[in-house]
Formats: sequence, structure tokens, C-alpha cells
Amino acid sequence: MPYAHITGWGISVPEPVLTNDDIAKMVDTNDEWIRERTGIRERHIAREDQFPSTLGVEACIKALQVANLAPTEIDLIICTSSSPEYIWPATASLIQDQIGATKAGAFDIQAACTGFIFATNMAAQAIRSGSIKNALVVGTETLSRFVNWKDRGTCILFGDGAGAFVLQASDKPGGILSAVMHSDGSGADSLILPAGAARYPATEATVHEGKHFVQMDGKAVFRFATRVMGQATREALELAGLSTADVDRIIPHQANFRIIETAAKYLKMPMDKFVVNVDRYGNTSTASIPIATVEALQKGLVKNGDKVVLVGFGAGLSWGALVAEWTGPIPSKKHVYPEQYRLFARLRSFIRRALRYIEGLFSRREL
Ligand code: UT7
Repeated sequence: MPYAHITGWGISVPEPVLTNDDIAKMVDTNDEWIRERTGIRERHIAREDQFPSTLGVEACIKALQVANLAPTEIDLIICTSSSPEYIWPATASLIQDQIGATKAGAFDIQAACTGFIFATNMAAQAIRSGSIKNALVVGTETLSRFVNWKDRGTCILFGDGAGAFVLQASDKPGGILSAVMHSDGSGADSLILPAGAARYPATEATVHEGKHFVQMDGKAVFRFATRVMGQATREALELAGLSTADVDRIIPHQANFRIIETAAKYLKMPMDKFVVNVDRYGNTSTASIPIATVEALQKGLVKNGDKVVLVGFGAGLSWGALVAEWTGPIPSKKHVYPEQYRLFARLRSFIRRALRYIEGLFSRREL
């Protein structure tokens, strides 16, 4: 049975920064309160012309560059987003088209902020089963579009960004060692974006009532998060036959510094084992774990051979953890340039659209 290794990683974060002081001009809050209660100092907000696919494509290309893998080699793309481009088609399909992943099947999974853990595990399972060799997993958000900028309970928390992993099959032991996935739908209304889908299709009333914005019972989510982060970490470690003493780094979902601190206490682990960057990005939902991972790699906090735990929680309610032995890119003599495929991808997409149009003209005549 092949092992599933994380061989590439990339992020894309929009440039515009929104500080706590900026938010204090919009709602009744202040920098001190936000920093004390959440640890957040600032977050990045997508420009009007940036969408989940825009950020996702950038993150995927960077991940493919690290893996030294052509988009045409990808068998599967799983995108996860709490702010997808559309209900459907899948954001994964848009990314597949734009990066030129010509042979990949592409779909989205929805597990809110836990999405990246679930998606990475699904991709790893597909590789472990032998049915595919190369997968791209991407978490991408422009959540700022779904935040009520008049609600101080939520608008201080979220930010935009994207992160991607390449997973590849290898006979060499390592890579994803174990994963646990959990859900509790009885807590569905604790964190919800109610309207715009089947239950509350968009109407003047849903817009008026603010049902197209994130709604959250902050305290309930906080209590749930502090309970499950440590539990899921322990479960995943046990499945991998490891203990907390074996862990080199924990990369948690970046929602609130106090939640991470509480998890560290529960696990009796020092805070310096935890990667924390919530101060500069806020909660980027599905993108928060890969963004924190890439920063940790850049700072040398994660090295080849390290045992790393990724752990997350979110709406659903959902939570999960994954243990990986970090191995890095698979060595290869050839050098590929994944970014160059984008030009061909654009041309290919244009030609396919044109052919579809022409086909439509002829089939109309036949009818
Ligand atoms: O991916 C998962 C996403 N969600 C989360 O992770 C959220 C988890 N929850 C949290 O992080 C915290 O519950 C919050 C940061 C959202 C809120 O912190 P809290 O310590 O639970 O505050 P609270 O809601 O209990 O509010 C305490 C006080 C209240 O005033 P009173 O009733 O004590 O007078 C709030 O009205 O703080 C007030 N408050 C604020 N004050 C200044 C609430 N939001 C703000 C604010 N600025 N932004």
C-alpha cells in the first residue's frame, strides 16, 4: 500500500490589511479588547477582483512549484471553502480549469473550518487505496464577503486567504500517518450562514434580516472548541501509535489565541510547540491551517522527519486532527514550471468554450 506524502505547499494572501483600529471605526470595539479576547491584531481582506478561485489558483501553483509537479500530473483536486465562489459549480472545477489540471477530477467538500483536515484525509485515503497518485488539496476563502461589518461579535474575527498542499504516493514510509474526523450536527445553529441555499433562498426578507451573513454563538463555539482540539489531537496520535512526547509541532486552526492556549494546557504541552499566526491573519477558516503550516516551514519550525499534528474545528459542528511525518518534495532530476501551464490552460479553456458555442449553433439547426 503506498504512503501519502505532503510534497508541496503554497499560500496566497491578499495584500490589503484591516487592522483592529480600522474595525473600531466601523463598530463599537477597540484594539485592546480584540487582542485580549482573540489574539488578533490584523487580517487580510480580498480586493473586489479577488475570489476564492483567484486565491486558490495562486496557492495551488505555488504548491506545485514546491512539489516540482506539472498540473497535468494531478489526478484529483479537492477544494474546501466556507465562502465558495458559487453553491455550484465546485470552486475546485474553476481551479482545475485555470491551472490546467487536464486529467484531474475536481470537487468541493464542505466542513467549514475543519474542511482542510477532512479534505487532506480524503486525498490521502485515495492515494493510500492505490486509485490515484497525485492530489491537490486547497482551502480558500473570501469570507469577508459574508461577514456582517456591523456585528462586532463576528466581524473582528475573520480574514481572507488560501493555502494548498500537494499529496503524492510514495513507497517510502511517512506522510499522513493517521486522521480522525468528527461531527455533531446538533450544534448546527451555533455557527451558521443561513440564507442563499435551499432552506432560505435569497429574498428581500432574507437580505433585510441579515441571513446572508455569518451568525455565531461565540461562547458556545468557544466552549466546544476548547474541548475538542485536545481530544482530537490525542485520538489521532493514538491511532498513529504516538504520544504527545513524540510531537515536534502542532498546527491548529487559527481562530482564537485563547482556544489554542487552552488546548495546550489540556495536552500538557508547551505553547512553543504550537504554531500561532492568528495575530496577523485572523480566522481564515479552511485556509488557516495551510497558511500556518507554510509560515512554520518558512521559519524552519517544521523540518523533514518531524511529527506534526494538524487539528481543526468549525461549523457543523465538525472537528478533526491529522498526524503527519513531514518528508518534503520527492527528489527528481527534471524541473517543471507549473506556472507556465496557466497560459495554455487559458487558451485551452477559451477553445473549449468556443467549441461548445459552435456545437450549440449546429445542434440548434439540427433541431
Ligand atoms: O472557526 C470557528 C469560528 N469561531 C470561533 O472560533 C469563535 C469562538 N468564540 C470566541 O472566539 C469568543 O467567544 C469571541 C471572541 C467571539 C467573544 O469573546 P468572549 O470572551 O466570549 O466575549 P462575549 O461574547 O462573552 O462578550 C463579552 C462582552 C459583552 O459585553 P457585556 O455583555 O459583558 O457587557 C459583549 O457585548 O464583550 C462585549 N463584546 C465586545 N466588546 C468590544 C463582544 N464583542 C465585542 C467587541 N468589542 N468586538
